[in-house]
Amino acid sequence: MDSLCTAALEARRHSVSPYSHFAVGAALECADGSVIGGCNIENATYGLTLCAERVAVFKALSEGIREFRRIAIATDALTLTPPCGACRQILWEFCGDIPVIAVNPRGETIQWTMSQLLPAAFDQRSMK
Ligand code: THU
Repeated sequence: MDSLCTAALEARRHSVSPYSHFAVGAALECADGSVIGGCNIENATYGLTLCAERVAVFKALSEGIREFRRIAIATDALTLTPPCGACRQILWEFCGDIPVIAVNPRGETIQWTMSQLLPAAFDQRSMK
């Protein structure tokens, strides 16, 4: 299996999801080849929950990393899960048109590009 998918499956093990019981892991590959992991972190207010993808992106940004190559997302479900709408917006803003790979516990994958997942995106260029 692609090591990025293995990293996403591994990150999922740290998920804090006592409300949904839906564990998600993400692995973000940076331009230098390093990989930053993230998992979903839930809260009793529900609305303050953070998705795995955004945790990974914000961890990387907070360490000064600005260039990204790919992201892999893993869940416990056999259904291959694409990122939610909020995560798509954040991924587009900070990672651009990168490949997004979904992987399930069987190691099955599907891949999209960010421009497939968020066509006609609103971004800085929309404000000129
Ligand atoms: N979740 C993610 O971590 N990423 C997504 O793109 C979709 C949803 C999390 C949020 C919540 O903790 C759980 O999955 C159920 O929605």
